[in-house]
Amino acid sequence: MGQHIIDTLVEGLSKLEYRGYDSAGIGIDGEKEFDESTSAKEIAVYKQVGKVANLKDEIKSQNLNTSETFANHVGIAHTRWATHGGVTQTNCHPQPSDDRNEFIVVHNGIITNYRELKTFLKSKGHTFRSDTDTEVIAKLFKYYFDKDNDLEFYQLAKEVLYQLQGSYGLMVKSIHYPNELVATRKGSPLLIGVKSEQKLKVDFVDVEFISDPATTTQGTNGSSYSNSFLTLPTNSEMTLRKSESRAILPDYNKPIEFFVSSDASSVIEHTKKVLFLEDDDIAHIDNGELHIHRASKAAGMSTTRPVHTLEMQLAEIMRGGYDHFMLKEIFEQPDSTFNTMRGRIDFKNKSITLGGIKEFLTSIRRSRRFQMIACGTSYHSCLAVRSLFEELTEVPVSVDLASDFLDRSPPIFRDDTCIFVSQSGETADSMMALKRCRAAGALTVGVVNSVGSSISRETDCGVHINAGPEIGVASTKAYTSQYIALVMLALQISNHVITNSRRHQEIIKGLEEIPTQIEKILQQSKKIKEISEKYLHNKQSILVVGRGYQYASALEGALKIKEISYIHSEGIQAGELKHGVLALVDDKLPIVAFATQDSFSAKLNSAIQQITARDGRPIIIATEGDRLIDRSKASAVIEVPKSVDCLQGLLNIIPVQLMSYYLSVAAGNNPDRPRNLAKSVTVE
Ligand code: G6P
Repeated sequence: MGQHIIDTLVEGLSKLEYRGYDSAGIGIDGEKEFDESTSAKEIAVYKQVGKVANLKDEIKSQNLNTSETFANHVGIAHTRWATHGGVTQTNCHPQPSDDRNEFIVVHNGIITNYRELKTFLKSKGHTFRSDTDTEVIAKLFKYYFDKDNDLEFYQLAKEVLYQLQGSYGLMVKSIHYPNELVATRKGSPLLIGVKSEQKLKVDFVDVEFISDPATTTQGTNGSSYSNSFLTLPTNSEMTLRKSESRAILPDYNKPIEFFVSSDASSVIEHTKKVLFLEDDDIAHIDNGELHIHRASKAAGMSTTRPVHTLEMQLAEIMRGGYDHFMLKEIFEQPDSTFNTMRGRIDFKNKSITLGGIKEFLTSIRRSRRFQMIACGTSYHSCLAVRSLFEELTEVPVSVDLASDFLDRSPPIFRDDTCIFVSQSGETADSMMALKRCRAAGALTVGVVNSVGSSISRETDCGVHINAGPEIGVASTKAYTSQYIALVMLALQISNHVITNSRRHQEIIKGLEEIPTQIEKILQQSKKIKEISEKYLHNKQSILVVGRGYQYASALEGALKIKEISYIHSEGIQAGELKHGVLALVDDKLPIVAFATQDSFSAKLNSAIQQITARDGRPIIIATEGDRLIDRSKASAVIEVPKSVDCLQGLLNIIPVQLMSYYLSVAAGNNPDRPRNLAKSVTVE
């Protein structure tokens, strides 16, 4: 294969390094023939855990003959950030259908019904090597191909897609379809860059509705974007003429290259011309032609995919068009919270299944105490769910900072269940506490974002929060996902108790609404920015007050503010105001108070009165339309939708995340890289 192909793929992966990943791999045409009866080449797959540089070294060590050039070549590549299965070479992508790499697949997203599909494929004689959900996709391709090898590649893809539940952005290469690529998406971004020396013949690609060809001439709606990282104007002049080509057709004298990627960062150095795939699009690249087919016919779907010119710089693209990763991550929360629940909660039947703790559920239920251990934001997520855990399980719950736990060295028993919550899964204090608990014979559970991290490996079982990589040092989307994962854990542990069932149903219904409710709060970002700049910017100190379920919000809110704005901030339990804090209150001290409705509202109202009686003018975070709360002396009121009491903190924290961000920017700081802090603290 030509060096150009390898370089393009590997350099493309390097451009994605900023997103965080744990392994990388590529699949290209190999040097040997697949079999004698066909001139097609075998597919060669190279993969490595760790950095893209490791993959580069691996390829180099193969001493490939790279002098050969091809008129056509399809190669695919992937950086993996594990969700199913640990960080091992076998789990890297591309995932093969079989030992001969008849089909290879790279995949972003989560296939929620992969267990069922795996059982089915095993019953048909397939053996699985990896622990990934992706391997089932590769094997499904082979399964349907073996059933009917007359199908075109995209038709085969349709058969496979009908079986998949969950989210995916995927690309497939096959020995049976040399020089062809199938790329498709659902809930996971995918775009196609087009590089050509010729002037492109069309400025859009017509979409074929395979099930009903008559509809190919309908509609000229603008495209709708589900890619969160780019905002581009829709091409209003785009029209669809019947006579136009259905594909970008090459002039064979001039080369054309397609770059399919989940992220424009890896495409932009080659071309600025891109088109965005929509959910259920199946892009089929075959001998320099691009055709887009539909896996399902959704009403109102645009029938064209316009070719856009990217105007953004690389750095901007990486941040998804946001000024900072932190802001991007705050705005990702409608998706990340949903991803935490995806495949685990059946909202229709109001039931929950956490596969990662299934085998240990009986032992967990027998335990006499839950001991939660974490640091920083992760510690706050434990505090946020502590009372729900106590309520549903009727077992005492201790929550400790890992460092304090190590200092105290409290007794741990064999019938304790110790829960370790960590975004990175590498925090040294949490890791050491885990070792102590294991040595004491306790059952250990990890609630971790990074699959394959030390904590996820060393705990007996666990729940991955699936929030996606978090780059901003100040944790935002990991907090809301940890919170939800812990709520799901409490529900799973207690769902055998019949008397809990009504409360369970109420909470599951509440969880279902969370992503949309977060979206609604994010729409107020402009107002929150103004409030932050007017009342909080340049202040010496900010108090954040809450009680009950909102005590954790107060602590987490204050942590966010101090981390990135460098303004001193303290989270206060409202009941403690009168035991000291009131001495600080005057007309100058800024105070943020969580006063959303729950059974503690009356007490919180009285705390607000204690503040206003001393000329304090709090910013109140209140339930939409709540008229009982005393707003008369507030500096400002930010309204949030009402959720179930134990979930309200998931919503209340959003305005304060935004406040901290805007304060940081107003102070001229870089919110993504606060001074003196690290994303993952691997020293004691
Ligand atoms: C560091 C980070 C915090 C994080 C804490 C715990 O201090 O800056 O954002 O909350 O570590 O990290 P973990 O990865 O264990 O959640």
